[in-house]
Amino acid sequence: MTTAVLSTFYAPKGTYDLIPPDSEAFLAVREAMAAPLERAGYGYVETPGFEHVELFFRGVGESTDIVTKEMYTLTTKGGDELALRPEGTASVLRAALQANLHRGALPVKLWYSGSYYRYERPQAGRYRHFSQVGAEALGAEDPALDAELIILAADAYRSLGLRNFRLLLNSLGDKECRPVYRAALQDFLRALDLDEDTRRRVEINPLRVLDDKRDAVQKQLTGAPMMRDHLCEGCKEYHEQVRALLTAAGVEFEDDPKLVRGLDYYTRTTFEFVHDGLGSQSAVGGGGRYDGLSEMIGGPALPSVGWALGVDRTVLALRAENIELDTASRAAVFAVPLGDEARRALFGLVTELRRSGVAADFAYGGKGLKNAMKSANRSGARYAMVAGERDLAEGVVQLKDLESGEQTPLPLDAVVAEVRERLGRA
Ligand code: HAM
Repeated sequence: MTTAVLSTFYAPKGTYDLIPPDSEAFLAVREAMAAPLERAGYGYVETPGFEHVELFFRGVGESTDIVTKEMYTLTTKGGDELALRPEGTASVLRAALQANLHRGALPVKLWYSGSYYRYERPQAGRYRHFSQVGAEALGAEDPALDAELIILAADAYRSLGLRNFRLLLNSLGDKECRPVYRAALQDFLRALDLDEDTRRRVEINPLRVLDDKRDAVQKQLTGAPMMRDHLCEGCKEYHEQVRALLTAAGVEFEDDPKLVRGLDYYTRTTFEFVHDGLGSQSAVGGGGRYDGLSEMIGGPALPSVGWALGVDRTVLALRAENIELDTASRAAVFAVPLGDEARRALFGLVTELRRSGVAADFAYGGKGLKNAMKSANRSGARYAMVAGERDLAEGVVQLKDLESGEQTPLPLDAVVAEVRERLGRA
């Protein structure tokens, strides 16, 4: 294939490539999200990028946009109906059940990181391929577990330096109080002046109507019954405990009685982190309790709670707050050889430095001194290691501090130790 043809390929609509230096921020965000989870005893889990489509029908819900409009589905040559995963919770629970983790000590605490796919209308912050870091705590009904997860997410955002995010909190009740509330809400909604699509939604998924962004709908919702006024005693008490634990941990939240979320499996605690610098796609992460999901996908009762944080949107939030993460250049030393003999000697030293744990790079491509020094400066390395024939004849290389400009000749066999010493690695 010629390059002319190749140049007509672009990443598919709604996707983008992660390329240095921006990709560094993605890695840093993933790490910042994972670190608090590992400290809290969550184990890493990885599931396939696709699952049987039925898992999402049953797990995420047949009345959700994610399942009805946004799934990438395919039929394999063998006749299996699969879907690229639109979210992680159903898959992680499926994997835990399959591996019988629920028969061991509970809760089972798992975290994951990966790509998800939704056929959405692309816009700033909304993509068809995006990244999440998620966490699920399976098999315990304990407000401290809900609080733990929310605190860990808030800590992750804070550790990145983010400030302008808010935590919205709600309870969606349980199988006892939700159906009663749902019926009351339907009675209220049926009396409104709504378009046909919304009327249909009233019958299938009335809580989602509360989430409708359109003014014409929102105006009519004044006075609508709210879940929080219909919570049963158990749910009310549970929610109060979650709120108290968050307050004690210094995590601020706003009660949002209209927070519904776009997945059907939620019960009781639901929450969303929103960032105020992102426009309409402001949710940087969200989650909640899903006490009935295991049974919905054929497992035993396994009350659980979890969240997923959007990596792409968190990177956008960092940009909105002008936060530069310290993802400084990886090379500490950049080698600049002048002549063939120096190439061999310095290449050896670069290898030795790397093996001793020092990040080092090399002026490849036989560049002249000027261009090679330009590369050294551009690399962000602290030191340039320069050598020509005369240096080698004297058994030295020149170590140039690229910050101060100071240059020191060092015996070849002392370079690695000296660099390590200067970098505080000795
Ligand atoms: P979700 O709210 O659908 O929840 O997604 C979580 C986060 O993923 C969102 O807050 C957002 O930051 C990001 N996200 C979602 N869709 C897109 C998109 N099209 N483009 C860019 N970012 C996106 C879940 O996925 C649940 N599985 C969370 C959960 C885990 N609940 C319980 N456990």
